[in-house]
Amino acid sequence: MFWILINCFGISVCIWVYYKWTRVKRYWAEKGVPHLTPHPILGSLSFLQRENPGVWMRKIYENHKHPYLGVWWFWRPALIVNSPDIARNVLVKDFPVFRDRFLSSGKTDPIGGLNLFTTNDPLWSWIRRRLAPIFTASKLRALQNLFDTKSKELIQRINNEKDKTKINLKIVFTDFTTDIIGIASFGIASDSTLTGEGPMRTVTHGFMNFDLYRGLCWSNIEVSEDVIVAQAAAFVLGGFDTSGSSLTMAIYELAFHPQIQDKLYKEIKQEVDDGTGILNVTKLAEATYLNCVIKETLRKFSPMGWLDRVALNDYRVDENLIISAGTPVYINAIGMQYDPELFPEPERFIPERFLPENKMDIKSFTYMPFGDGPRNCIGQRFAVL
Ligand code: HEM
Repeated sequence: MFWILINCFGISVCIWVYYKWTRVKRYWAEKGVPHLTPHPILGSLSFLQRENPGVWMRKIYENHKHPYLGVWWFWRPALIVNSPDIARNVLVKDFPVFRDRFLSSGKTDPIGGLNLFTTNDPLWSWIRRRLAPIFTASKLRALQNLFDTKSKELIQRINNEKDKTKINLKIVFTDFTTDIIGIASFGIASDSTLTGEGPMRTVTHGFMNFDLYRGLCWSNIEVSEDVIVAQAAAFVLGGFDTSGSSLTMAIYELAFHPQIQDKLYKEIKQEVDDGTGILNVTKLAEATYLNCVIKETLRKFSPMGWLDRVALNDYRVDENLIISAGTPVYINAIGMQYDPELFPEPERFIPERFLPENKMDIKSFTYMPFGDGPRNCIGQRFAVL
């Protein structure tokens, strides 16, 4: 009798799973949305074992010429958006529906789940308002000495390398960006640009002792130590690797394009260098060609190639599609940044695309290395500097 019950239970579970799976895999077809064929367990995530997500996003864009595509994160249906018009609606026009990100580490991980990047409303709005003044133009100008000192240390570090033909730029640049973010955001002195040692641990430990916001209470939101430390983690993690890898890729491209390197060097010598040996950050921000080189680097090598949001309620995407509340939506920014109709010869490094006279050729919401709308990158100006 016992074994008959066990068998019946097993068969019922199998039938239920099969029924559920057939419903899951029909989800996008029933809505008339072009979609990938899901793997029975991983959904569309089977690519993770084989491919970089940015490369996968580009392939999706190239192979599916449609404004959107249905995918599955395991069994959860999600929508990838390839259209600048829908991107504008999601990121800006209908922002109240898409305030939240799908990405989160869950409630059991306070550092991963409570930081500005992963947290959702009402905490997100509160933190965002409080952190916005950290990166104003005047605050950034005040960092001139820091940028200067650390840049000199960077040169010294490179000069100290025994074999200058084999320098691991990614490591050197992330030591440099970690130092700058640690000092600029939290006042924590660190020597990793020169020595390459222990920067992130120092920042995170040090921030535990930094008590500017500690104990603050506003609009019924208690700011616990976890919330404060989570912001340190967001800035360090969101900032040091993105800007470090962007510097690395800029230098990589410049190495392959000596004529671009010469043009850039001349601009910096003529317009930025005032003979004091100190780079003026205000002039740096205005250096046209330098900014074009940065923008083109970020077009080709966006550290985050897609923008993650989740629909708070049922939402009409266009006349053919309504997505349900809770559907994750991913704007395929890297796909658009490699579209030859939007950026001709996308594989080539052409900073001139971003010259002021060519600005009109770049369609809105097709170039978004820092995201867009109220939830864009809070560190953008700092990162570019
Ligand atoms: C080249 C460097 C960087 C790139 C390409 C980059 C890119 C991005 C992107 C694409 C987003 C998502 C925007 C969206 O969903 O619309 C983002 C968010 C964010 N970034 Fe950056 N970032 C960079 C540097 C930095 C730096 C230096 C910091 C901090 C010091 C930083 C802190 C953040 C934070 C906290 C968020 C979450 C904002 C929110 O959800 O309100 N990032 N970044």
